[in-house]
Amino acid sequence: MMEIRNEEPTDRDTVRHLNLTAFDNGSEAALVDKLRTSCKGYLAFVAVEDGTVVGHILFTPVTVDGSNVVGMGLAPMAVLPSHQRKGIGSQLVRHGLEHLRQSGCPFVIVLGHPEYYPRFGFEVASRYRLRCQWEGVPDEAFMVAVLDNDALPKAGGIARYRGEFDDAI
Ligand SMILES: CC(C)(COP(=O)(O)OP(=O)(O)OC[C@H]1O[C@@H](n2cnc3c(N)ncnc32)[C@H](O)[C@@H]1OP(=O)(O)O)[C@@H](O)C(=O)NCCC(=O)NCCS
Repeated sequence: MMEIRNEEPTDRDTVRHLNLTAFDNGSEAALVDKLRTSCKGYLAFVAVEDGTVVGHILFTPVTVDGSNVVGMGLAPMAVLPSHQRKGIGSQLVRHGLEHLRQSGCPFVIVLGHPEYYPRFGFEVASRYRLRCQWEGVPDEAFMVAVLDNDALPKAGGIARYRGEFDDAI
């Protein structure tokens, strides 16, 4: 049985291990640990199968230059290698987006694979004049899921992740 639930403080060591296992280096695990203490308003979910945490997803607040609109950024997300390609990552994304839609979040950005994220409703962010803060990111890799079109800054602008991401990249 698989369930998605909010991350709890007791999940932290397991999530660190999960990120260390799923990613090639320790920077995502360290970033997640750092954000938990320094970032207000983050949102984290875990996927639990038979009592074991097998997946994790994090959303952190994102600002848009020149506006006071606050959205969220999806990153990082990880599923234990032994449990990948079974739809767990998809369930985490869908669960997170639905939660954010219901809580009135206007948009979610993601920097990731253009083949993966559109299935959840992500579109190329430049369509909404939203730009990535980092140089050299291919246009199609920077995506947005618009949850409330009316609340988007019409002029667009650079969408910025928390500063901790700059330090991690
Ligand atoms: C990305 C990740 C979270 C997906 O989780 P998952 O549970 O395997 O995903 P799902 O089973 O829901 O979806 C599988 C799909 O993701 C695609 N996918 C997985 N990793 C991918 C990658 N690195 N690049 C492109 N597509 C990828 C697969 O092609 C598959 O697509 P398909 O269904 O069309 O074949 C998981 O592969 C992972 O932890 N990877 C290592 C960490 C990582 O790169 N995280 C993402 C960046 S923050």
